[in-house]
Amino acid sequence: MSRIFSGVQPTGNLHLGNYLGAIRNFVRLQDDYECIYCAVDMHAITVWQDPEELRSNTREVAAAYLASGVKPEQSIIFAQSSVHAHAELAWIFNCVARIGWLNRMTQFKEKAGKNRENASLGLYAYPSLMAADILAYKATHVPVGEDQKQHLELTRDIAQKFNNDFGKEVFPIVEPLIFGEATRVMSLRDGSKKMSKSDPSDYSRITLTDGRDEVAKKLKKARTDADPLPEKVEDLESRPEAANLVGIYAALADISKADVLKDYSGAQFSVFKPALTELAVEKFGPIGDEMKRLMDDPAYVDSVLKQGAERATALAEPVMKEVKETVGFLSF
Ligand code: AMP
Ligand code: TRP
Repeated sequence: MSRIFSGVQPTGNLHLGNYLGAIRNFVRLQDDYECIYCAVDMHAITVWQDPEELRSNTREVAAAYLASGVKPEQSIIFAQSSVHAHAELAWIFNCVARIGWLNRMTQFKEKAGKNRENASLGLYAYPSLMAADILAYKATHVPVGEDQKQHLELTRDIAQKFNNDFGKEVFPIVEPLIFGEATRVMSLRDGSKKMSKSDPSDYSRITLTDGRDEVAKKLKKARTDADPLPEKVEDLESRPEAANLVGIYAALADISKADVLKDYSGAQFSVFKPALTELAVEKFGPIGDEMKRLMDDPAYVDSVLKQGAERATALAEPVMKEVKETVGFLSF
């Protein structure tokens, strides 16, 4: 049986990349699979978070799931810290994963920057907690953006080593689900950097709550080259900014990049950018409005998270019982 798990960090500035790379796919999977979607607040604190902002950002992630169409009566929506299994299993996985494996993680290198000695131990162990998130439910498939591929390979390695060490197929080997035309949305200011929540420039990203004026302003300022759009997708390869905007258009319109170029080859950005603005406003407007409405009703959002935590706890419980028995912990 397939079970889906994924998570988003409550670190604010939820953007187009989060939506197109991940959240939209969460919605598309829910009718066919049992889905568990988490706001990973324990991952967020691997770098400093203001406590009040963290609380609000956790509700914001839940609001984004709901506003995008995740149905709480069907899928599970909850906050990571409210289910004990994540921390418990992460510790066990810290004792399975090898330091050498974690040393290869590119996200740690990027996030820790030059001053690696001063990064938190949690930031280093981050992928082990991520493996625990998924495997506490024996989830089999994980929808994410392309940047999470390496972490999911580590999850597979941990599951495999655990199963080997104890001579028992306790955990499934998870499959990443990376699909759509925008699995890696790039910054609007620099086509070589991915769009991210932590980029200091607001102009680098379109957030889910940006209104029409902000979207128009940001896209107008988005970096491009001087040429019109080409006829063939291959001709976008050497033009990262153009490729990014065409990819965003394709994903939002739910068509292929080739189809976008059928309509817009030869068009200047002065024509393409307003068309993209219209499309983005049409798709994001209602989501942003609903998110704002939900953020004004924290009691409702909390009730969804609370019920989600109860359902998630019930699913994790038998898995943790099996894991503890396998490892050799006493159970009373
Ligand atoms: P994060 O913002 O790191 O919590 O990411 C949450 C989800 O969004 C993960 O599945 C990421 O892979 C995905 N994601 C983040 N940034 C991008 C991006 N620029 N393009 C596509 N997907 C992204
Ligand atoms: N590391 C993911 C990110 O930054 C978030 C995450 C945490 C996650 N636990 C997860 C994603 C489990 C999928 C499954 O985007």
